[in-house]
Amino acid sequence: MKGRLRYRAMRGPRTPMVTAIAIPDSVAFEALEDSERRAVQEIIALVRSRIGIDFGLYRPGTVCRRVRNRMISAGIESYEHYAEYLRASDAEAQKLLERLTIKVSRFYRHVPSFDCLRESVLPSLAKLRAGKPLRIACHGCGHGEEAYTFAALMEEAGIAGHVEASDVDARALETARAALYEESALDTLPQPLRALCVEPAKAGRRSMFRVRQAVRARVRFSEYDLTSGLPPPGSAPFDIVSCQNVLIYLQRPVQERVSWMMRGCLAKGGFLCVGEAEWPPPAVAATLSVISHATRVFRAI
Ligand SMILES: C[S@@+](CC[C@H](N)C(=O)[O-])C[C@H]1O[C@@H](n2cnc3c(N)ncnc32)[C@H](O)[C@@H]1O
Repeated sequence: MKGRLRYRAMRGPRTPMVTAIAIPDSVAFEALEDSERRAVQEIIALVRSRIGIDFGLYRPGTVCRRVRNRMISAGIESYEHYAEYLRASDAEAQKLLERLTIKVSRFYRHVPSFDCLRESVLPSLAKLRAGKPLRIACHGCGHGEEAYTFAALMEEAGIAGHVEASDVDARALETARAALYEESALDTLPQPLRALCVEPAKAGRRSMFRVRQAVRARVRFSEYDLTSGLPPPGSAPFDIVSCQNVLIYLQRPVQERVSWMMRGCLAKGGFLCVGEAEWPPPAVAATLSVISHATRVFRAI
């Protein structure tokens, strides 16, 4: 289906079952003792006041699991003791933030999605925009792998455009701007895209790969909290809004609010990309058509 887009409208008789994003939450927040719940709430309040991110908007089971994970690393057994420890240590808040916002990623992460963007979406957008630079927003970009993948795809196709990449974690953005990666981050990046995107580089004595200047120049990184209710960085409308593997961590009403915000930032005929295990909430999905279920790429209708 190279160069051609095939859509499946979400409305009408062929409408598939649209499910909200669902992921198993192995730790049941409800199963905690009252005192443990209060301690978890205090932990959330401490992170909010120290770092400004409200993890009360995230799925409580996921938050508990990640707090517990951090407790194990710190050698602390109860939520109550961990809350005390966190209160006494500024450095711990940053460590907890890193655990709460895990950065697992790689270039060209969800292969069917990026194949579709590379072969169909980007060429057809470039044709439609007739030389006008494309605008791509990439939310929750972590260490930059996803944003640089979009930039490399435009570079490969000789398409003018740039990526507005953002993340809630300012330290992650520093790493993203440095643009240095282990070879394992490139595992699913197909040749010749890989050669165009990165070059070998040394970081001290470590052999790594650095994103090439032409690709780096297409990406601007900014700090932005998707749940803040503020407009995102860069000027909407965007031709593509990508938010992969972030919505899954948020509570459903928050997923819906964030999804509407992103939908509102899409240009006419623009595309929304979510992660492999994600799907836009039903009300938002009803305003989109899906290219194919495997891709998780949706077009504004
Ligand atoms: C699992 S990583 C996903 C990275 C990349 N999008 C991908 O799919 O490979 C999730 C990212 O979302 C970011 N994140 C979590 N909550 C966020 C929020 N409220 N606003 C913006 N970014 C957020 C985290 O800091 C982390 O970098």
